Amino acid sequence: MTLSSVRSICCIGAGYVGGPTMAVIADRCPDLHVTVVDLNEQRIAAWNDSDLSKLPVYEPGLDAVVERARGRNLSFSTAVDEAIAAADMVFISVNTPTKTKGLGAGQASDLRWVEACARQVAKVATAHTIVVEKSTLPVRTAQAIKEILASAQGEGSDGRTFSVLSNPEFLAEGTAISDLEGPDRVLIGGEDAAAIDALAAVYAHWVPQEKILRTNLWSSELSKLTANAFLAQRISSINSIAAFCEATGADVREVARAIGTDSRIGPKFLQAGPGFGGSCFQKDILNLVYLCRHFGLPEVADYWESVVTLNTWQQHRISRLVVQKLFGTVTGKRLAVLGFAFKADTNDTREAPAIRICRDLLEEGAQLAIHDPKVETDQIARDLHLEASAVPDPNAGPSRAALSGEGTWWKTDDVASTVSGADAVLILTEWKQYRQLDWQALAPLLRQPAWIFDARSVVDPAAVATAGLQLWRVGDGGDPITR
Ligand code: NAD
Ligand code: UGA
Repeated sequence: MTLSSVRSICCIGAGYVGGPTMAVIADRCPDLHVTVVDLNEQRIAAWNDSDLSKLPVYEPGLDAVVERARGRNLSFSTAVDEAIAAADMVFISVNTPTKTKGLGAGQASDLRWVEACARQVAKVATAHTIVVEKSTLPVRTAQAIKEILASAQGEGSDGRTFSVLSNPEFLAEGTAISDLEGPDRVLIGGEDAAAIDALAAVYAHWVPQEKILRTNLWSSELSKLTANAFLAQRISSINSIAAFCEATGADVREVARAIGTDSRIGPKFLQAGPGFGGSCFQKDILNLVYLCRHFGLPEVADYWESVVTLNTWQQHRISRLVVQKLFGTVTGKRLAVLGFAFKADTNDTREAPAIRICRDLLEEGAQLAIHDPKVETDQIARDLHLEASAVPDPNAGPSRAALSGEGTWWKTDDVASTVSGADAVLILTEWKQYRQLDWQALAPLLRQPAWIFDARSVVDPAAVATAGLQLWRVGDGGDPITR
């Protein structure tokens, strides 16, 4: 395989990674044809929708990239076999969630979709095909892929051959397009120098050579798990200190600034909050934990597992704290939840802190009015395992459900109707619009005495105080003398 021979790319999996990544590759490499395939017909239809606001993934800047490349050298299709057969490079970008049953349930990655892809490629690929792991995978998965592909080589295979590379993706949701267009690094792991060169040549269209790192397969696979583990560890570390700040009168924002200016620590990923969400941090750490135990390293496994334990604790801590501040009960009380996505600028709710916090409060019998600018009602219902109730009439008394202590929720379209009649406002996602709220105007809509629980440090404490509202802010110890 020579550099110039990569002409056609197929990406299996049109999700949060496959869609944006391939859109940027197509945009930056007009000489390549890129086809993104998926079994999910609805998802592919949405990627093909002429209305760009209906793309299945919300990412700032994605619509413009798709508009430039789609129909030129980028296509989305359900014709998986045809796209694999036509490609000389196949990316596997399918989901790798935590196993829910069987061996390793609750920790190990479920690799059934990855294996299915490898088998599909083995069956229908033509000539030489470079297979690229884009999904985040347990270290040594490439061995299994190689063995599956090897079974399709040799006699009667029409001269088909394969090379396997690892090329993990480091984009973060909400900044996916800028991360892809200006990555800190691109990592390529492999054994076949020509295949590595071919993939490096794709990225070299826009990524400087010195940012394209080459490693062996296993280092590449493990670097991805390690990067996510280190990032998540920083969040659990700062959240542990946030709780300590609240107990001692320190302020976690001041502590983060003080330590972040040490160039060895650095300022990023020191924002205390409601714990990390997203589809990957928890699953990747649990996978690391599982692998460490498997390889006989229980102390290493325990060390990383504590990062997840602290994160779960932080989420329950916030819901407990809400109940405590509201005189020990939220049964039948209306609470306003601002933000459901796991972070701002995405419609993704996978492992969102809001899920655990809302579930805890529903369990306590709260009535939740939930607002999020991008998350759909159906998604919230799936996450909470509870259908939405009808929006209550503000002039009617408490509903039957409220009186019986049953937790209910409904979705709202604007902040004012969300907070109307509420005893407390919980800010769980740092959407820009929540930074600019007019508390003076909102305060009269709340039932007094009212609380603001700012889990994202987005409000101006002085403005909240002037509006006569009580404030809990993550990691804000206030003054221990006057508290
Ligand atoms: P996703 O669930 O959004 O998308 C995966 C897609 O693969 C789905 O649309 C599914 O229908 C499709 N699929 C599964 N099996 C298939 C098959 N056999 N043939 C065709 N299509 C198939 O997942 P995602 O968020 O894009 O994540 C994909 C991988 O990338 C995961 O391993 C994840 O850990 C990793 N990753 C994710 C992010 C992120 O920000 N979401 C960032 C870096 C890495
Ligand atoms: C993360 C990594 O940042 C990416 O490099 C990686 O590719 C990706 O996981 C993945 O493998 O899926 P993502 O989960 O999209 O990206 O978003 P992050 O910006 O990392 O945020 C994750 C969670 O941590 C969010 O809930 C966010 O609110 C929280 N967070 C982040 C904090 O609480 N504090 C911070 O300082 C930073």
